[in-house]
Amino acid sequence: MIKIAVLGYGIVGSGVVHVLDINSGIIAKNAEQKIEVKYILDIREFADSPYKDLFVSDFETILNDPEISVVAEVIGGVGAALDFTRRSLEAGKSVVTSNKELVAEHGSQLLKLAKEKNVNYLFEASVGGGIPVIRPLTQCMNANIINEIYGILNGTTNYILTDMQRNGADFSDALKEAQLKGYAEADPTADIEGHDTNRKICILSSLAFGRHVYPSQVPTEGITGVTAEDIIHADNLGYKIKLLGRARSVGDKISVYVAPHLIAKSTMLADIDDVMNAVIIRGNAVGTVSLCGAGAGKLPTASAVVADIIDAVRHLHSRRWISWDEGGANLISDPSLLDSAWYLRTDATKEKVEKEFGSVVFSQVPASQTAFITGVMNGKMICDLLERGITAKSQFRILGDY
Ligand code: HSE
Repeated sequence: MIKIAVLGYGIVGSGVVHVLDINSGIIAKNAEQKIEVKYILDIREFADSPYKDLFVSDFETILNDPEISVVAEVIGGVGAALDFTRRSLEAGKSVVTSNKELVAEHGSQLLKLAKEKNVNYLFEASVGGGIPVIRPLTQCMNANIINEIYGILNGTTNYILTDMQRNGADFSDALKEAQLKGYAEADPTADIEGHDTNRKICILSSLAFGRHVYPSQVPTEGITGVTAEDIIHADNLGYKIKLLGRARSVGDKISVYVAPHLIAKSTMLADIDDVMNAVIIRGNAVGTVSLCGAGAGKLPTASAVVADIIDAVRHLHSRRWISWDEGGANLISDPSLLDSAWYLRTDATKEKVEKEFGSVVFSQVPASQTAFITGVMNGKMICDLLERGITAKSQFRILGDY
């Protein structure tokens, strides 16, 4: 029997306790021993909860209990979560988490600390919710040089864009709908401004390329600039609009960014709708690997956290191989140098567009504005062209092999 503590009893924390309870038999079999939740840390009271006797409000109780060897941190954020994670690792307890902000900001130092203490810091749930991503990337594909990793990494924005595509909703109505359905938070900033996707692509790139990519190094554009008109033009041109996090090796550097893209309707990624996520990984030996599934939600996320708990229990005295080195400015290549075809929407006439951009593909939807797809050029070239009297109302990359 192994005893664990769960820090935080929000959506994910309550899901973790629930999955450990309802699947206790299979979990004990896979962990080769029973796993019991001894403590749940939360400052709130849950008097009606069947687990009410497990609640504690003082982290010291958990920290000072030698029976606790694995801690699940599902508080979120980088305040108390960072403090409790550090102190748990220092005390020789393994930590598992779904906290992408903490891993994206402090992953390299927490992994280093875990290594020093010969314990594990595991975070399968931090990217893609219930989709297995971290282990496929760090174990199944570790005979590969990774050339590129990208994906639809945020369920809320994918839900909003799907609603706009299917029902012609404009952005603010689709956001309200997502909030009503419980997908978007009351404050949806982290999702719609792309910060959540930013953190997830930071974690994926750090794992794929072996050095820490920090959120502040990643140019990030969310979906607030995507209009119903853009969705209609994209549809007419054969595309859907999706928010992507993307990292690509460029020589000995990597180019990482978050932005809306036009995705050809004929590709698998275009069919990843609603709150589903997908991650595409390109390795030099394996080729292209696609992973998709439920990227958010209580039980899918809890499923990944509990899998990490089982892994930590099975490796109490040995390390799982997950780590990366410190990052630095010399790691990052400017993403605006990446080539792409582009979708543009502008007030300029077709004649003016053709004069500056040469041969382009126009959307045939009758509209007051002109929408078109350019030839292949990098972001700096497009800025230079736009300085010749064309104002872009929207400017998105077309995903493709360039
Ligand atoms: N807010 C996130 C999303 C939750 O919508 O994908 C899962 O990380």
